[in-house]
Amino acid sequence: MASLKDFNTFGIDVNARVLHHITSVEDLKIFTFKKRDEFFILGGGSNMLLTKDVEIPVLKNEICGITTIESSEHQAVVKVGGGENWHQFVLWALSQNLGGIENLSLIPGTVGASPIQNIGAYGVEVADVISKVYAYDMLNQKEVSFRPGECNFAYRDSIFKSSEHKGQFFILYVEFKLHKAIHEVNVSYGPIKNILQEKGISTPNIQDVSQAVIEIRQSKLPDPAVTGNSGSFFKNPIVLKKVQEKIDEDYDYVPFYPVGNDTHVKIPAGWLIEKCGWKGKRVGNTGNYKYQSLIIVNHGNATGAEIYDHAKNVRQSVKDKFGITLEFEVNII
Ligand code: FAD
Ligand code: EPU
Repeated sequence: MASLKDFNTFGIDVNARVLHHITSVEDLKIFTFKKRDEFFILGGGSNMLLTKDVEIPVLKNEICGITTIESSEHQAVVKVGGGENWHQFVLWALSQNLGGIENLSLIPGTVGASPIQNIGAYGVEVADVISKVYAYDMLNQKEVSFRPGECNFAYRDSIFKSSEHKGQFFILYVEFKLHKAIHEVNVSYGPIKNILQEKGISTPNIQDVSQAVIEIRQSKLPDPAVTGNSGSFFKNPIVLKKVQEKIDEDYDYVPFYPVGNDTHVKIPAGWLIEKCGWKGKRVGNTGNYKYQSLIIVNHGNATGAEIYDHAKNVRQSVKDKFGITLEFEVNII
């Protein structure tokens, strides 16, 4: 029996019947699982809500190492162990003056989980820089690799999350193509621009962008070391443009992001949840964060089941008020 309390950012106190620390692919070759529900892969536990003890073997990714496998004047290709901490990898890239992931600073979790929901923030998605994903097919007991075109990357989605393959591939390493020397920074997200302007930085480098992102995140996201959470609990819904126009009429204004076609838009779920009155509201040991309604928090000693019930109530209220069904971003275990 092993406690998982320190291995999930909600800080839920549940146990794993057996916990395996996986430090190389060799550690996986002893298993002969036939079905995806016979084992469970754990990274940094920052995108999951554990609602009960885990009775199946838990395989915790601790495969480490960063290797530069190609380097030219303009770019470097680096292969990173899936168990490496994501933000530490970003800091390493910055220290080498390698650009492309500075907007993804301070996202919790492991490198191995980054392709799974195609982590994204402040105008950048990890799919923009991934050149290969190395995995172990747990059901067919063989090493496989995926080129970006095979990963089906989309907003908070990939083949690794699909109903057909979720849990089948243990991600061992991820390869990234990062740029050197000439950096085209992405400051499309308004608040980044504002911070840089306030600091009087007109031609920001990748370190400046990373620092701005860190400041924004620290101002509105709870630190899991202090307040348990798993980041955005729901995905931002993609709705028909006319649905957004109707809400806009009723509420004066609703923020939205374009999604690359004229028919649909993405609405921030945090706005919908705030309009249902949940912002900063506490319900028992759980509730919604005071600066970001999309984040459900553990005020201390909440059970996974209590948080899950609260999340379902939040989802129902959005459905009742706006007719929009929010999808969980967090994995419910
Ligand atoms: P885990 O939570 O351990 O696992 C998530 C899922 O992936 C599970 O289904 C697990 O079985 C599977 N999995 C994990 N590792 C592997 C592997 N090696 N191979 C196969 N399957 C695996 N996400 C964003 O996209 N953008 C953000 O801005 C963002 N901000 C956040 C802020 C906070 C404060 C928090 C707590 C979370 C935030 N997240 C964000 C969510 C989270 O950080 C990411 O989803 C992250 O990639 C999860 O990594 P992890 O290692 O903790 O995965
Ligand atoms: N908003 C509100 N009230 C709230 C929260 C948000 O009105 O309580 C509105 C505001 O208009 C705000 C807008 O929503 O301007 C967008 O908010 P924010 O910039 O915080 O981004 P988000 O859409 O809520 C998404 C990601 C985050 C990511 C940020 C920055 C999803 C589900 N979430 O949040 O990712 O860090 O953008 O790019 O796409 C995560 O996945 O865990 C996560 C934190």
